[in-house]
Parts: sequence; structure tokens; C-alpha cells
Amino acid sequence: MVAIPGKTLRDVTLILRPFDVDRDAPEWFIAMQEPDMHRWTGNQVPDSLANVRELLLGYIAHPDIIAWCIRDGRSDQMVGTYWIAIPVTCEEKCMSSDAQRIAKPFWRTGCTMAARRLVYRYAFEELAVDEMHAGAWEQNVNSVQSMERAGFELVEVKIRYNPKYKEAMNERHYVLTRQNWLKLYRI
Ligand SMILES: CC(C)(COP(=O)(O)OP(=O)(O)OC[C@H]1O[C@@H](n2cnc3c(N)ncnc32)[C@H](O)[C@@H]1OP(=O)(O)O)[C@@H](O)C(=O)NCCC(=O)NCCS
Repeated sequence: MVAIPGKTLRDVTLILRPFDVDRDAPEWFIAMQEPDMHRWTGNQVPDSLANVRELLLGYIAHPDIIAWCIRDGRSDQMVGTYWIAIPVTCEEKCMSSDAQRIAKPFWRTGCTMAARRLVYRYAFEELAVDEMHAGAWEQNVNSVQSMERAGFELVEVKIRYNPKYKEAMNERHYVLTRQNWLKLYRI
């Protein structure tokens, strides 16, 4: 299987483009030194630039995802990373899922919402996705609130073992349907 390179997406504030590891890894290494970035994800503070190069190379080579580097359109600073799963059709519904890591200085600046708008337009309009799925630990307030603000609806809460905290925790599962996205973003 071969990884699919992400199409470059842009608006007036952001550019989402495929990774350029030589360029992106040093900046992302610095951003990932912030412990708050990793509280509710499977990642941790990287101890070397080589770890971050490996992470980004892993995104590029992954056969099941389309991944982007998010950069500020004006300053060209690296804002974060974003990936979606290659859509799959199940019971006549085309489904994908998404995840993002936004550098802490860009939290709640409008960048995450702008990146979501670009990615969802691409997924719903160009990839013919019907439903975008996403999950977050209940305590990941930023993620839960960000998804709810973006139009995701809660469909399930599952108890799952969190290896980072070595205990069972609630994981919230959300869906953004194309209809809801159209209502929120296109009308
Ligand atoms: C999760 C993450 C992507 C959310 O992005 P963000 O930039 O922090 O949040 P957003 O700008 O999308 O938030 C949108 C809205 O949600 C609400 N919201 C977000 N975080 C909130 C919080 N902590 N408390 C209350 N409301 C919040 C607000 O209404 C906000 O709009 P406002 O800033 O205009 O008031 C980001 O915090 C991040 O990358 N965290 C680390 C990695 C991570 O946890 N990724 C997700 C894994 S599931």
C-alpha cells in the first residue's frame, strides 16, 4: 500500500500542505516540548529531533491517512499537524475520522477552526465523505469543546483503558455529518 499525499489546502489565514520533514521537524520539536500538548494524546515530549523526524515520516508513509502540516499563512510559523483517515464505505456511508495537534500558542486563536473548515470542505466536497468521526478522552476539555463547537454530535461514551494514566476512563465518540456541516458552514 502507498500513502496518499495530502492536497495543499489554503485560505487567507492558513496553509495545510504535505510535510517537508527537514523544514518542519525542528519547529515541531520545539512546539512539542510543551507538556500540555500531550496530556490527552498518545504522544509524549520528544527527547530528540530524530524522534520528531520519525513521527513526521510515519505520517507521510502511513497508508491509511492523509496528513498535513498546518502553517500560518502570514508568518509561515508551524501551527500544527492534522490527519484524516482514508475514507471507507460501510453500509453505503462513506466515513473518515480526524485528529489534530495544535501548538499551544495557537490554541483558541481561530487557527483550529480554520483548519477544520479547510479539511472538512475537502473531505465532504472532494472525497465525498458522509460522516467524519472523532474521539477524545472526556477530560480533554479543549478537544471536546472544540469538536462540539465545530458541529460534532456525541454518539457514544465508552470506558477504555488509558495507558498514560493506567486507569479506565470515559472516551467520547463524536460524529460530524455532512448535513450538519452544510448547515453550519455552507448556508
Ligand atoms: C484539542 C485542540 C485541537 C483544540 O483546539 P483549540 O485551538 O484549543 O480550540 P478551538 O479554538 O478549536 O476551540 C473552539 C471553541 O471551543 C470552545 N473551547 C475550546 N477549548 C475550551 C476550553 N478549554 N474551555 C471552554 N471552551 C473551550 C470555545 O468555545 C472555543 O471558541 P473560542 O476560543 O472562540 O471561545 C488543541 O487544544 C490541541 O491540539 N490540544 C493538544 C492535542 C490534542 O489534545 N489533540 C486532540 C486529541 S483528541
